[in-house]
Amino acid sequence: MVLQRLVRPTVSLGQKFAPTTLPRFVRAQSTSSYENILVSSPRPGVGLITLNRPKALNALSSSLFKELNAALREYEEDKDIGAIVLTGSDKAFAAGADIKEMASLTFAEAYANNFIAPWSYLTTLRTPVIAAVSGHALGGGCELAMMCDIVYSTKTANFGQPEIKLGTIPGAGGSQRLTAAIGKSKAMELILTGSNFSGEEAEKHGLVARAFEGGNKEVLDGALDTAAKIASYSRVAVIAAKEVVNKSQDLGVREGVEYERRIFHALFGSNDQTIGMKAFAEKKKPEWTHS
Ligand code: CAA
Repeated sequence: MVLQRLVRPTVSLGQKFAPTTLPRFVRAQSTSSYENILVSSPRPGVGLITLNRPKALNALSSSLFKELNAALREYEEDKDIGAIVLTGSDKAFAAGADIKEMASLTFAEAYANNFIAPWSYLTTLRTPVIAAVSGHALGGGCELAMMCDIVYSTKTANFGQPEIKLGTIPGAGGSQRLTAAIGKSKAMELILTGSNFSGEEAEKHGLVARAFEGGNKEVLDGALDTAAKIASYSRVAVIAAKEVVNKSQDLGVREGVEYERRIFHALFGSNDQTIGMKAFAEKKKPEWTHS
């Protein structure tokens, strides 16, 4: 199915915060040519991407990923977008990598083409991304959700890393991100048995920030509200906040705290820090300049 962009014209590169060198696989693609995703902007400052390959439960084929990366890149470069929401349908966020597509892959093809590596583009974005998950989030679907900055799900969402049942292992970061999120023993149990777990359990284990009653509509509304709130703040402060939280994954506490302090110091050089503190003192609503 083809869907058009609902709002805003495309803006040129560099109008927001110019990303670092763009990987070759993240090429521009006309939004009107998307066949596996839908894009829209249902709230001010929020870009929504809906995985839309219903017949295959949103299995993550290379053509779907090419479109997803193109849409992410467009939002990343759009100065009017302050947060992105990624969702699927009631039935499936995504049922994993496309098994039929990869079934005949040889080692040489997988290795030489660095199969799956383009999926990581999402993790290089500076704009926050929220996953709104309902239905199946299995294998690569679970991994895609975990690449997002915040994961919301329904209570009945079906998470899992079932690759062991296919004679393989997670290939898009599942063994690393699941372990970092819920701890080694639980992650080991889930990955070695291929057992699934619900959104309710995922919330209990800290993988999901909030688990909602209902279906995709309810979790998506929650994600869009949060995204709109994030998008209403200074983009400079939001980017800095995301950066320092992510640093905590790589640095020890002492170095991390020091890193945070340096970025905190740096924000005294931004216009929005001055605007925010002055507005507080004057009991006014800050008018962010994103500078
Ligand atoms: N790849 C390709 N096609 C898939 C798919 C996948 N991951 N998941 C589902 N589909 C297809 C099915 O083949 C089926 O297509 P047909 O109608 O043409 O037969 C269609 O989607 C509907 O699926 P089911 O009939 O199986 O639906 P169901 O409701 O009975 O079961 C399910 C749903 C439990 C999710 C089941 O489809 C399933 O187990 N899917 C595979 C899940 C999985 O193993 N994911 C991990 C993939 S490997 C991976 O992701 C590696 C990595 O780390 C990157």
